[in-house]
Amino acid sequence: MAAVGLLIGVCILILALAFFRRNQKGGKRLPGPRGLPFVGTYFSLDFKRGPQVTFHEWAKKYGKTFCCQIGMTDVIITEDFDDMDYMFRKFPETYNGRLFDIPDEYDTEIGFANLPFGKKWKEIRSFITSILNATTLGPRTYDDIIAGEFQELCRYINNRQLNKAFYPGDLYARSVANVLIYTLCQKRYDYDNKEVLEQIEAVDTLGRSLTIPMLFCMPGILYLLGIKGYLPIKSVQNIGNATKYLAQICAENIEEHKKDFDPKQPRDFIDMCLKQIAEGSPKDKSFLTVNSLNGASTDIFSAGLESTALSLVWTIALISSRPDVEERLEKEVEEVIGYERNPCLADRENMPYTKAVIQESLRYVTVAPLGVYHKVQKDTWFKGYFLPKDTMILPNLWGMHHDPDTFPEPDKFKPERFIDSKGNFIKHRKVGGALRSRRQIVSRRGNRYEGNLPFPDQHNPEI
Ligand code: HEM
Repeated sequence: MAAVGLLIGVCILILALAFFRRNQKGGKRLPGPRGLPFVGTYFSLDFKRGPQVTFHEWAKKYGKTFCCQIGMTDVIITEDFDDMDYMFRKFPETYNGRLFDIPDEYDTEIGFANLPFGKKWKEIRSFITSILNATTLGPRTYDDIIAGEFQELCRYINNRQLNKAFYPGDLYARSVANVLIYTLCQKRYDYDNKEVLEQIEAVDTLGRSLTIPMLFCMPGILYLLGIKGYLPIKSVQNIGNATKYLAQICAENIEEHKKDFDPKQPRDFIDMCLKQIAEGSPKDKSFLTVNSLNGASTDIFSAGLESTALSLVWTIALISSRPDVEERLEKEVEEVIGYERNPCLADRENMPYTKAVIQESLRYVTVAPLGVYHKVQKDTWFKGYFLPKDTMILPNLWGMHHDPDTFPEPDKFKPERFIDSKGNFIKHRKVGGALRSRRQIVSRRGNRYEGNLPFPDQHNPEI
């Protein structure tokens, strides 16, 4: 009982400190709704349709970049492409923080996706990007790995004789998971394997965490206490358990790899990182350690799985709902690929309509509608407004994708909006889950398992 009282006392103290700190700093603030003390605009957010829809409405009133208080935190919401470009690409040191200020020297299993923008993040990210952007992984090409998994998926569907209508989303998730797991540690699971289903479930829990209403008004420290299991909030504790479970699986894989690791023949992502760790960095000190490798593997698996699987299932659903689109797409596939061979990434260049369908699906659905939280890493001024350190920033990607000035009739699925009069594909700079953020990472190749469709690369602005 005393412990609960103490915990409540500590929480109140943290809330009060955060409140006073927030109000101490001066300077003109960006316009936007403030809401009530302590809870801010929390109760005005539409958690049913998604807060992005409320933010999109507010953008009409306050401008495409505005500030609102959520809980006790000031959050800049932006659906303005140029402002995002300015903040996340031109001044990454200022605007690309994450929730916690983890010092570079702290050797942690927290993945680089949660690290603030700094030396450690840069080193780990650049090494990982180089692995995922290569054309081969060990003895196989990525094309081959993806095509192989796609055949397994078809075989599974045929064997089950799933001829009648069925929901393909779970199967896509399992096949995307297999590509990612193979990339990380050269394992492959049967589609009914319990372990892979548990891993997918854990990633699903992490994905859902982005939309848990409670988290929208929690200052970082309370969030941390919550996922560590110190707060009796089930949904937040679930995130902690899912994170622990995935980290545990990665740790086991790393330990297994250490046993028969041969630096001359790295087989996969883990081996390549172990090789780098063994050789040391060319610089004085490398931040890549077994702990950070664990975090990076978890990041790649969790960030890559849900986004790709969801994009896939939505794209297929949209195509199925439009026979005219399906017919035109099929014709292009027949002409460029035919039925005798597997598709490969190089085919994309000759498939303008397919690219248009995929780009339109990414726009229309926007699987990560509010991207990932960014944080202002130092006091700064933005367009004459003061932004104190620790101000959160949420890019409203969904809002940007549904702006009728840029995309007329935004609620209609119209791939033809990205085809010019000569039938060429028009790459639109405003469509793409990861934007032009410097935090865009990883893969020109890693996210190309999209049912062997030549899917655009979310983390590469040039499709
Ligand atoms: C359609 C597919 C995808 C979409 C829509 C998507 C979207 C996003 C978005 C919006 C961000 C936040 C960027 C930022 O904070 O500025 C992000 C970050 C990230 N994504 Fe993706 N992504 C996709 C596929 C993938 C794949 C396949 C992988 C892994 C192979 C991946 C790994 C990551 C990682 C590790 C981060 C964190 C980067 C960092 O904070 O440094 N994503 N993604």
